[in-house]
Amino acid sequence: MRLIIATENEGKLREIKHILKGIKIPIISQASLDKKFHIKENGKTFFENAVKKTKPVSLAYKNDLVAGEDSGLEVEYLHGAPGVYSKRYSGKNWTYEKNNLKILKELQGITQKKRKASFHCCLVLLKAGKLIKKIDGRLNGYISYESKGTHGFGYDPIFYLPKYRKTVAELPLNVKNKLSHRAKAFLKLKNYFSIIRNYED
Ligand code: IMP
Repeated sequence: MRLIIATENEGKLREIKHILKGIKIPIISQASLDKKFHIKENGKTFFENAVKKTKPVSLAYKNDLVAGEDSGLEVEYLHGAPGVYSKRYSGKNWTYEKNNLKILKELQGITQKKRKASFHCCLVLLKAGKLIKKIDGRLNGYISYESKGTHGFGYDPIFYLPKYRKTVAELPLNVKNKLSHRAKAFLKLKNYFSIIRNYED
């Protein structure tokens, strides 16, 4: 049995492999599989999208475990937006910069207290198309007043962490990868594997 990571994003895969280092089951990427998958991420929740990404792979490789995730930004003042629309929030010709500017504009004149936001990652683990574990990871912070920093991607330059007095994009990547929503979710998965392993031993 292997653990397939249902992502085509090499950056995410590196991050995930790094976090899961030490688990006793071989980890392989979706990109290295013979079969290819075309997935529409049109779910209404991160959970739905995570299952959409993961289920076809799990049904095609029934003897393996498959883990997949969907993530994005939720802004309290915007009632949870952009949520599942995080990637293309500024429209068809979206860029990370345009997405960030749109959020900053929507929060113009809004005080820090009301700028609460969180990155949310929903991770699912499936076997033969059946859900066996759902894990959520969150990173709480605030939307900054301006874009700052060059590390990371997406909304990192406008996501402010009071504890560090910095945006996520101003933090070194190895620091982000210890505290991010994805890191939290995959660390819980790692813990889950160690529990099952101890139980099986
Ligand atoms: P995905 O579907 O998990 O790839 O993420 C959808 C979108 O959420 C990305 O295109 C980013 O805009 C945003 N996002 C997810 N994770 C992060 C993160 O760690 N930092 C900044 N933005 C993120």
